[in-house]
Amino acid sequence: MPGILVTNIEMKNTILIGSLVVGACAALFVTPLAAADSPREHLSLDANWKFHLGDDWPDALHLENSGTGGGPASEKFADAYWRVVNLPHDWAVELPFDWAADGSHGFKTLGVKYPTNSIGWYRRTFELPKENEGKRIWLTFDGVFRDATVWVNGWCVRRHEGGYYPFREDITDVVHFGGENTIAVRVDATKTEGWFYEGAGIYRHVWLDKTAPVAVAPDGIFVCSRFKNNLPADDAEIQIEANLLNELTNPATAVVNCEIISPDGKSLNRFSESEKLERKSQGAVKLGSKLSSPILWSPELPKLYRLVTTVSVKGKVVDQKETVFGIRTVGFDATNGFLLNGKHYEIYGTCNHQDHAGVGAAIPDALQEFRVKKLKEFGCNAIRTSHNPPTPELLDACDRLGMLVLDESRLMGSDSENMKKWDDQIRRDRNHPSVAIWCIANEQFAVQDTPQAANVARAMQDYVKQLDPTRPVTYASPEDDVFRGINSVIEVRGWNYHYGPQMDKYHAEHPNQPNVGTEQASVVGTRGIYTNDGPHGYVAAYNVVWPGWTTTAESWWSFFADRPWLSGAFVWTGFDYRGEPTPYWWPCINSHFGILDTCGFPKDVFYYYQSWWTTNVVLHLLPHWNWPSKEGQEILVQAFSNCKQVELFLNGASLGKQVMKPNSKLSWQVKYAPGTLSAKGFDAAGKPIAETKVETTGDATQIQVTPDRKTINAAGEDVSVFTVSALDAQGRVVPVAQNKINFAIEGTGKILGVGNGDPSCHEPDTFVPTVLERSVAVNDWRWQLAKVPHNSSTVPEYANDFDDSTWNNLNAKTSGGEATIKTENTTAIYRAHFTVTEEDLKGAGAQICFGGCDDEGWYFVNGEFVGESHDWQAQPIFNIKKFIHAGDNVIAVGVNNVAGQGGLNPNVTVKIIGHAGVPPWSRSLFNGLAQIIVQSTRDAGEIKLTATADGLTPATTVVQTQPCAPRPSVP
Ligand code: GAL
Repeated sequence: MPGILVTNIEMKNTILIGSLVVGACAALFVTPLAAADSPREHLSLDANWKFHLGDDWPDALHLENSGTGGGPASEKFADAYWRVVNLPHDWAVELPFDWAADGSHGFKTLGVKYPTNSIGWYRRTFELPKENEGKRIWLTFDGVFRDATVWVNGWCVRRHEGGYYPFREDITDVVHFGGENTIAVRVDATKTEGWFYEGAGIYRHVWLDKTAPVAVAPDGIFVCSRFKNNLPADDAEIQIEANLLNELTNPATAVVNCEIISPDGKSLNRFSESEKLERKSQGAVKLGSKLSSPILWSPELPKLYRLVTTVSVKGKVVDQKETVFGIRTVGFDATNGFLLNGKHYEIYGTCNHQDHAGVGAAIPDALQEFRVKKLKEFGCNAIRTSHNPPTPELLDACDRLGMLVLDESRLMGSDSENMKKWDDQIRRDRNHPSVAIWCIANEQFAVQDTPQAANVARAMQDYVKQLDPTRPVTYASPEDDVFRGINSVIEVRGWNYHYGPQMDKYHAEHPNQPNVGTEQASVVGTRGIYTNDGPHGYVAAYNVVWPGWTTTAESWWSFFADRPWLSGAFVWTGFDYRGEPTPYWWPCINSHFGILDTCGFPKDVFYYYQSWWTTNVVLHLLPHWNWPSKEGQEILVQAFSNCKQVELFLNGASLGKQVMKPNSKLSWQVKYAPGTLSAKGFDAAGKPIAETKVETTGDATQIQVTPDRKTINAAGEDVSVFTVSALDAQGRVVPVAQNKINFAIEGTGKILGVGNGDPSCHEPDTFVPTVLERSVAVNDWRWQLAKVPHNSSTVPEYANDFDDSTWNNLNAKTSGGEATIKTENTTAIYRAHFTVTEEDLKGAGAQICFGGCDDEGWYFVNGEFVGESHDWQAQPIFNIKKFIHAGDNVIAVGVNNVAGQGGLNPNVTVKIIGHAGVPPWSRSLFNGLAQIIVQSTRDAGEIKLTATADGLTPATTVVQTQPCAPRPSVP
């Protein structure tokens, strides 16, 4: 076939083995381990992080010495009163809106103008048992937005900028076996990478892996399947590459055993290979096997195989990993378009950012699944992860539920840093059967036509062939009939907009280059709104062209539907997202491009795509029929349907039957009268096959709350997504209701976020606890050279009743940081006073924060020892609630100046910390609907959600949380 490109099968997703496959062992096979005995542990590190917003420690990164991270980066930092958060976490979604903020990012008070909101700190401790000694310990971040600096036990182990790429470190050298370890992460979200909402914080999972010194390398398994001529018939050739690490100081011979498990759990092929690994080296083992009559993966039948890889050294199992994969072929053909399993398969795609109402970029795994299912409802069979590498769990959901993926990089570049990121992305994602094509970049206006861009594109494309010879590569090009630069070298020509005659011309001129519509439509519309309303930032949902580069659903789709060589396309976008409030600006804060709003509630255009992308019988009418001020006026009524004819009725009287052209819609002008607007759909033989109606409702009288799932897992991660609506006295959803709803939750769940799809709503998506802090003045600093014991024992000078009136004064303003001890090996004592009230003592706690102590200090409050420090760069913080009393309190610090000059920095703050108050959750309905996302705790039981509103009958709904083993995690 002309111009056919590669491609095959397959791939996976490496997860830790959780079940065992037992079977007869061939000579080289070692009996598989029970999961608990596997030397590898893959542990979630998501729970119980401490979080602080603000760059209060700008000097934390000490470049002078190793292991001396300052402020929160230090092991000893006291974070007791920081907020506890579980990952994934996005603090941008918690911030207020401001008209002066960056609108393309959603007007959140983040970025250069808001330095105090743009840097966040996360801390967490974990224990490593002594028995782990000898293992390798890996720390993996799936994604942090952005610019992360990571310390482990005060050692700066990693700096990583890109907000969409995973990064990991082998931290074995700096951990404490048999003790407590501290991870500190500084996240700087001041700068942006895209032109849309991007979030802020550790918004994907974090993992701790423990492996034997000889083990499968991170993302080290690649499994793919090949068929003759890329046509799945007869046997599949399963090809496996296992990349191994040997961290031992002597060579090791590793035996790799592979076992393939069928979608229904049967053990199929087993095969093995061995490899000698030199000391401290990495090696690859290639294995292969034939699989007869495999069950092919497709969006309609997403059947998954598993590969169990076991590594042994000297007969002992040292590692075992399970890799989920699928068997299928993909190809892009210049004449026949996209081919799945050898046949033309039209791509009904949508582009999507990683952003959902209530949670922002921190999308729990269960919500990824919810979103994929929503897209499938209107026939979407492919997602473009615009414009960045996806969250791994999105790909898992796509594998499981059947959704193709165009896997896109963030930036184009053939420099070493970009190629390393490209390498990481491909190695991580190449086993997923859902991933059908790689995309090197989107709309590189500045460079795309240059020979340099062609070189870079070729380098990235060629590199794919080394790591993944089974998938082609595209570029999302915003050009029309242009064959220069990137377009002239890319395997599959991508088309962002510009559909029309120039596409036919280009195709005629370049008949051997396959094509795909990487981005189309960009139709704007607001759910439930039928008149443009600039001041409020709403766009009529009649699917009209506005602004200029957009295209109605029926225009672009009719063009593509007639040209299979175009492969189909990805609509901009499946879901609305924060930022890019096109065609408006403030007060509008999110996009209008979605087929679904930010909650996943369908806009009318959803039914257009459902009509032509699914085989369901579809008949949908718009608008709603609540127009009390428009009696007698003409209203545009439209029908989205795939029936052959549609007849419209108002209050039972026919308004005419119209013939539906393929890929089209129908319109009527109707004089408004309250009542029932209804329609009947007919098949080709004139037989009625569908009916629908919209009715004029009464006012809202009651609330309705409906969970998407009535039973969820009680592992602390699963979510139930509740739809909140208002009903009239006859139980009909009131499509114009805007009531403010208050929420209360009891039992085994917590609210993660709320939303309503209103692109101009400034109500909070999350209600985070607010902790009030009061700073107490520290006065009357005095000091004197004096004998200080080098331990924590007291001396008379530490006592409250000691008379220091004859000592030297130390003025915090003028003496801060100045040396007061001029000679080495000399000690001194410093004293000061502060006053607290009875009210202060009722708070959650109190802390004392020191600006620095050169070189060693022993700290006392009211004569009681509170802690010590031994690093002149440390800025120690101690919890002192139990040592203080109402009235006058005395601080005393013994200081030892070890070298040069030294002393105590009198910049010392005492903070009184209040109890966290959680404001009650609420959200207004927008055109009848709101959404509330509830996550289970780890306890099995019942979640009771109650919704109340002024003047409406409240609603209470119960969701069960069923017992479920949580995924292996670090306590
Ligand atoms: C495209 C761009 C998208 C989005 C869209 C809006 O050119 O690739 O990221 O900005 O325009 O229509």
